[in-house]
Amino acid sequence: MTAMTTTEYTISNTFDLEGIDIAVNGYPKGHKHQAFVPDLDENYRFRRDILMTVAAWWQMEESPLYLWGPMGTGKTSVLLQMAARLNIPVQLVSCHDRLETPDLIGRYVLNDEGGMDFIDGPLTTAMRFGHLLILDEIDYLNPATAAGMNGLREGLPLTIPETGETVRPAEGFKLAVTGNTNGMGDDLNVYPGINRMNQAFLDGFAGLEVGYPEKQTEVEILKSVMPDQDDSVLEAMVSVADSVRSLFMGNPNADEDNAIEVTMSTRTLVRWARWRLMADNHPKPWEFSMERALGWRTSPETKAVINGIIDRVFG
Ligand SMILES: Nc1ncnc2c1ncn2[C@@H]1O[C@H](COP(=O)(O)OP(=O)(O)OP(=O)(O)O)[C@@H](O)[C@H]1O
Ligand SMILES: [Mg+2]
Repeated sequence: MTAMTTTEYTISNTFDLEGIDIAVNGYPKGHKHQAFVPDLDENYRFRRDILMTVAAWWQMEESPLYLWGPMGTGKTSVLLQMAARLNIPVQLVSCHDRLETPDLIGRYVLNDEGGMDFIDGPLTTAMRFGHLLILDEIDYLNPATAAGMNGLREGLPLTIPETGETVRPAEGFKLAVTGNTNGMGDDLNVYPGINRMNQAFLDGFAGLEVGYPEKQTEVEILKSVMPDQDDSVLEAMVSVADSVRSLFMGNPNADEDNAIEVTMSTRTLVRWARWRLMADNHPKPWEFSMERALGWRTSPETKAVINGIIDRVFG
């Protein structure tokens, strides 16, 4: 397999981050795997610290990368949006506990002539053609399945058991995974179904914790959804989100007796903004849009707490 031609992209122009004149490799537009490049989200705002680590990993680090942190902080999207800008083809797999090795490597399927063809799975495709493989929510994967991929962390070739073919990782093949935990399990049971990962598997990874964005970044993210709103309003929205986060029972600093069962991810904050845009004629537009974004899945007590915060901030 001939490696794809690379091209250099400057971080400052490509990711809209001023003053970083470092170049990273990507691929020129219109390459033969263009169909696997994720769609670009114009509203995406790169976070300097996170992007610098992810780009450095992409450029230089051989180990796979483990991004972990609370839900909706931008782990999956930073990988996809970096790939969109550098024109990197991606195989994205959402993990779950019944995902098995053949789902990743491939399987025989019936062809039109009544025979069987072996169809590559996402792992084999990524290795064969040099795509970025993202195993999303890796901590839902059965630890035994993860352990079956130990060879990947060393860049070893993959032998397909069914066909006996050996696939060497093509230039450009890389593995990144995301999870809500760092593989050590979820003691607070905030994320039911999460597994503790095998330590030998984790040993192969470089890692980065992705927390909630800084206030200013979240204001900018909101601004791309609500360009006509004043900054003071957007800041008020972020402070509501911060208050909810500080009360969340999964927050180690939360007061146990008054903790609430939900938190507010950046994803939910963006959804709140989108619903708020449609609510101008509603008598209580902030509460109405919060109910659509988050309130609908909380207990009545928590809903009252969140509406109290909104009242205090916007009231
Ligand atoms: N930096 C950002 N710029 C713009 N939008 C963002 C940013 N970070 C997060 N978002 C918004 O939050 C949503 C969730 O982000 P993403 O899917 O990357 O979260 P995640 O950390 O992978 O969450 P989960 O743990 O639930 O998988 C995105 O679709 C986007 O709407
Ligand atoms: Mg994700």
